[in-house]
Amino acid sequence: MNTSEVKAFFEKTDVYLTYNYNLRIRAETVGYFIRNLEFDRVLDMPCGTGDISAPFIHKFGHLTMMDFSENMIATARKRVPDNQKGKVDFINADFYSHDFGGSQYDLVMNIGILAHIRNPWEFLEETMKLVAPGGYLIIQNTDSKHWFAKLIHLYLGMRRAVGKDKYKLNKVPQDELMARIRKGGFKLKDSFKYNQSFLGLSRFFSNDLKYKLTRKYFGYAGANKNASSGSDVTFIFQKQSA
Ligand SMILES: C[S@@+](CC[C@H](N)C(=O)[O-])C[C@H]1O[C@@H](n2cnc3c(N)ncnc32)[C@H](O)[C@@H]1O
Repeated sequence: MNTSEVKAFFEKTDVYLTYNYNLRIRAETVGYFIRNLEFDRVLDMPCGTGDISAPFIHKFGHLTMMDFSENMIATARKRVPDNQKGKVDFINADFYSHDFGGSQYDLVMNIGILAHIRNPWEFLEETMKLVAPGGYLIIQNTDSKHWFAKLIHLYLGMRRAVGKDKYKLNKVPQDELMARIRKGGFKLKDSFKYNQSFLGLSRFFSNDLKYKLTRKYFGYAGANKNASSGSDVTFIFQKQSA
């Protein structure tokens, strides 16, 4: 996918919000990971609708929400209460062309990006540099070697073949991702695995039912059941001090 196709896809904020039970699961996972932590400087890239970081603003000294979709940034802006807006920067820019000016953050959140961004390994190298020593990286990935992810790629490939879809997800294997993050000087602290509902069947179930079924089968961060059946993993790593 080229950058303009990804951007056009994510400008459809309403479509994205149709699957909002995932946002709830992701936000609850982050909430669990940071339950005993507070952070001075936080980067949520990409912030999307803002539903994942906005609930925790009270734990952050300053939050930067970044996304190259104008509609996502506009939605994220609405998620931040007016009395908290003073400590949030909204950056509507492409990660690759934005100049971070050497900034580092105590928490960097990269949720829902590796499958979509041009050159995920280059992105990973850049984002790891943005984490301050001793800081945390929360990163989500769908393991492309997992059977469930293979099924999704097959389904999307068939839709592309018959002209029903154009969107192509990056394939990022979990073993390589973890090896690269460890090599970058990070230590795994926790993870949560589940599966997003199968794309073709998703429309037949309400968000509430999908949420309940997911929780019944996979449990919660801190009490993850059937983790080996889950292809979608959210990790929290800590960058070791030099
Ligand atoms: C699947 S959504 C994830 C959003 C949010 N973190 C979540 O989990 O709901 C992917 C987001 O990445 C943004 N995005 C993709 N490539 C980007 C880039 N190069 N720079 C900034 N944002 C980008 C899209 O606009 C979209 O909002």
